[in-house]
Order: sequence, then C-alpha cells, then structure tokens
Amino acid sequence: MSNFNMAAADARAARYDHLTITLHWLTALLVLTMFALAEARSFVERGTPLRTDLIFVHVSLGVLLAAVLVLRIVWRIATHRRTAPAVSGLQHVVATLVHFALYALMISQVSYGFLMIWASGNGPSFFGLFSVPPLIVVDQPTRHVIGELHDYTAWAIIAVAGIHAAAALMHHYVLRDRVLARMIPARG
Ligand code: HEM
Ligand code: HEM
Repeated sequence: MSNFNMAAADARAARYDHLTITLHWLTALLVLTMFALAEARSFVERGTPLRTDLIFVHVSLGVLLAAVLVLRIVWRIATHRRTAPAVSGLQHVVATLVHFALYALMISQVSYGFLMIWASGNGPSFFGLFSVPPLIVVDQPTRHVIGELHDYTAWAIIAVAGIHAAAALMHHYVLRDRVLARMIPARG
C-alpha cells in the first residue's frame, strides 16, 4: 500500500471527535422533534392551548438548534475538518454535496423561522427564559411567502436526511465499512 493509501485508510478508520459526534446527534434529535411537533399541531383544534404550547416548544427548540448549528459550523471550520475520505472519489463528492445540502437547508429553515416570529415584532423565546430581539422585520405578505417556504423546506430536510440516514445504514449493514461507526460515540 502506498503512503497515500495508508493515510486514507487511517482517516477512514478514525472516529469523529466528541464534540462533532455530540452536535451531530443533537441536531438530528432536534430536527426530528421539531418536525413532529409542527406536524402534530395540524391535528389539534385551532385556538386551543395545546396548539400554542406545541409551537412554543417548536420555537424554543429552534432557538437551541440555531445555536447548535452556529457552534457546529464554527467547530468544523476551526478544526479544518473535511468530510472524511471515502473508498471512491465519486462517493466522496456525493457525500460532501449531501452534507452541504443539509447545512444549507437547515440554515435557511432556521432563518425562515426567525423571520416569521420577528414579523410580529417579537423575538422567538427560549422556554420563556430569554428571547432573540428582532433584527429584520418583514411585512405580512412577505411573512406569508416565508411561511410557505418554511413548510416546503421542512419536507426537503426530512427527504434529504432520510436518504442520508439510509446511506449510513447501507454502509454499516451492506458494505460493512466504518462510515457509520465513526459517527457513533466510543464505548468505555
Ligand atoms: C429544522 C428546523 C425546523 C423544522 C424542520 C421546522 C418545521 C416546521 C413545520 C413542518 C411547520 C408546519 C408548517 C405548516 O404546516 O404550515 C412549522 C411551522 C412553524 N415553525 Fe418551524 N421548523 C424548523 C425551525 C423553526 C424555527 C427555528 C422557528 C423559529 C425560531 C420556527 C418557527 C415556526 C413557526 C412560527 C411555525 C408556524 C407557522 C405558521 O404560522 O403557520 N421553525 N415548522
Ligand atoms: C435530521 C437528521 C440528520 C441531519 C440533519 C444530519 C446531518 C448531517 C451532516 C450535516 C453531516 C456532515 C457532518 C460534517 O462532516 O460536518 C452528517 C454526517 C453524518 N451523518 Fe448525519 N444527519 C442526520 C441524521 C443521521 C442519521 C439518522 C444517521 C445514521 C443512521 C446519520 C449518520 C451520519 C454519518 C455516519 C455521518 C458521517 C458521514 C461521513 O463520515 O462521511 N445521520 N450528518
């Protein structure tokens, strides 16, 4: 094996650092919970306290997701981390594109969420502890369009994350390589 191949093999075998792993699974948990809360809301009668509570928790978790995303991106850039090398160049390109798509979709989605809340002149509250003051206040017609985009983007995130998760499971159970293992916390 050439030196280059050995270096690539080492990188493939390694595990992501603790912070990357923690933030990855926290992101996944937040996104899925927030999607479920928002969808559950449509089954609840309008004007009921439960409907208000569901969106209150959705928005509070959204404030947390915004912080997690900023931290993730800063951490990725600060540690000069790239998507880990794959067995083939094409696979590496596809994985990198999917990861960037997920980041772009999540950044857009969180921005739409903040813009919707800010349109009412308030800031999104984090469980009533503090709120993020409005930076940009859009008018009602714009808010309506952003609401539609928020709905479509939610489904796009679920679709791309679903393909992403299926690929990870395929690596683990079909190709039997360490792609999923390096995103799983070490035991012991
Ligand atoms: C990845 C993150 C997010 C996902 C997957 C998500 C998903 C959704 C979904 C599916 C809906 C229902 C749309 C509909 O049926 O009309 C919704 C509504 C809503 N979301 Fe999010 N959301 C996210 C982030 C955020 C953030 C960060 C905020 C605010 C800071 C936010 C605020 C809202 C609000 C206010 C609504 C109600 C919109 C309305 O008035 O109809 N969301 N979200
Ligand atoms: C909403 C759910 C999810 C989101 C938004 C998401 C997002 C991401 C992002 C942005 C990356 C790139 C990390 C980086 O290099 O900076 C990543 C990597 C990864 N994700 Fe997810 N993920 C989700 C769910 C899952 C699930 C359910 C699995 C496993 C079944 C999974 C397995 C992985 C693996 C193995 C990697 C590393 C891939 C590699 O080493 O090339 N993810 N994820």
